[in-house]
Amino acid sequence: MTDKRKPIRFGVIGLGLMGREFGSAAARWCHLLNLDFVPVITGICDTNEKMFGWFESNFETIQLKTTNYQDLLNSREIDAIYCAVPHHLHQQVFIDIIRAGKHLLGEKPFGIDLAANEAILSEIQRQPNVLVRCSSEFPFFPGPQRVFQAIQASRFGKIIEVECGLLHSSDLNPNKTINWKRMIDKNGEYGCMGDLGMHPLHIPLRAGWLPVSLRAMLSNIVTQRPNAHGEMVPCETWDNATLVCDVESSEQTFPMTIRTYRIAPGEANTWYIRILGTEFSIEYSTKFHKTLRTLPYTAGGEQAWHMLDMGYEALYPAITGGIFEFGFSDGLLQMWAAFCDELAHGREGMMQPFYCATPEETHQQHLILTAALESHRNRSVAPVASGS
Ligand SMILES: NC(=O)c1ccc[n+]([C@@H]2O[C@H](COP(=O)([O-])OP(=O)(O)OC[C@H]3O[C@@H](n4cnc5c(N)ncnc54)[C@H](O)[C@@H]3O)[C@@H](O)[C@H]2O)c1
Repeated sequence: MTDKRKPIRFGVIGLGLMGREFGSAAARWCHLLNLDFVPVITGICDTNEKMFGWFESNFETIQLKTTNYQDLLNSREIDAIYCAVPHHLHQQVFIDIIRAGKHLLGEKPFGIDLAANEAILSEIQRQPNVLVRCSSEFPFFPGPQRVFQAIQASRFGKIIEVECGLLHSSDLNPNKTINWKRMIDKNGEYGCMGDLGMHPLHIPLRAGWLPVSLRAMLSNIVTQRPNAHGEMVPCETWDNATLVCDVESSEQTFPMTIRTYRIAPGEANTWYIRILGTEFSIEYSTKFHKTLRTLPYTAGGEQAWHMLDMGYEALYPAITGGIFEFGFSDGLLQMWAAFCDELAHGREGMMQPFYCATPEETHQQHLILTAALESHRNRSVAPVASGS
C-alpha cells in the first residue's frame, strides 16, 4: 500500500520524559483518521547517549543520531524540530533552530525568563517562514475544549470569577531527589510557575484574558533535598504559587486565580479550570477526567450543577470509539496533530480551528510570571505589562 500522506521529517532534541512522549505520539499516528500528513522521526539528539536506545529500537526511520544538536540543524533530512530540553537552554537552542530555518515545537516556558523569551521572539520575527509553536496539551482534551467553546459563545453573562491551575504533589516527599527542575540556574527563578504556568494560562490567554495586575504569593516549602549521592543540598525554587489577577476584558473586569503547585497533597497532575458566570458556569478538572460540570441559570430559576460524562471527543477524529475515554497521551497526540496540520495547511487551512500555543502567548505568560516575582518580592500588587 502506498502512503499518500505528506511526511513531516522531525528531529528531536532532548530525548527525556517529553522527547519520548513525542516519539510515542508519532509512533501511533495510525490512531488518527483522515490526515494527509504524518510525522516521521529522522534525527535524534541528546547529550546523554544512553537516551538513544529507546528511540533506536522503536524507530527504523532514524538516519541521524548525535550529541550535538547543530548536526540536526545542518541536516537536509529534517524539516521540523521538537525541542524538550531544560529551561536554561531554550534561548540558545530555540534561536539556533529557528535561524536554521527549521519549524519548531518548543517546550514551555519558552525561555528561562522574560529576556530569553523576548530574544526568541525577535528571532522569530526575522524568520517569517518558520512555524514556531509552544507545547501545551491540556487544552486539546475534550473538557477544556467544551470550556473554550463556552468562552467563544460568550455563554457566561457577567463573569463572576475564573480559577485555573495545575497541581502536583510528589514534592511532598522530602526524600525525593533534587533534579534540574528544582535548581534556579537550570529551571529559572520562576520555579514551579515556569514549569507549570503555561498549562493553566493557555486557555485564558487564548480568551484574551491577560491580567492588568496581580498579587502573587510564592512558597518554598521544602528548602533542602537529597542529591543523587544522598547529600542534602539547597532546594531554592518556589514550590507553590498563587496568583490573584485582575482581568479587564472588553466588557467587564473579574478576578482570576491561578495556582501552580508542586506540593498540593493528593494531587497528581490535576489541571483544572472553573468559570463562574451570572448565566452559565462551567468546571473541568483532570482529577475527574470524564466529567464536565455545568450550571445554566436564568433569573429566579433553580441552581443545579449538571454532570456530563464525556466520551472520546477529539478535534482530530480517531479510531477510538466515542463511548471510551480520553487520556494524557491522547491530548498530546491531538496537540501534535494540530501542529502538523498547521505546518501542512497553514492556520487558515487547518482541519479544525484550535491551534497550538503561540510565541505571543508564551510572551504573555512571561509577563505574568515576571509580574508575579515582582509582586511577591515587594509584597504588593504588581502591574502586568500589556504585551505584544
Ligand atoms: N508539556 C508538558 O506536559 C511537559 C511536561 C514535562 C516537561 N515539559 C518541558 O519539557 C522540557 C524538558 O523536560 P523533560 O521533563 O522532558 O526533561 P528531562 O530531563 O526528562 O529531559 C531533558 C533531556 O534533555 C537532554 N539535554 C540536556 N542538554 C541537552 C543539550 N544541550 N542537547 C541535547 N539534549 C540535551 C537531557 O540529557 C535529557 O535527556 C522542559 O522545557 C519542560 O518544562 C513539558
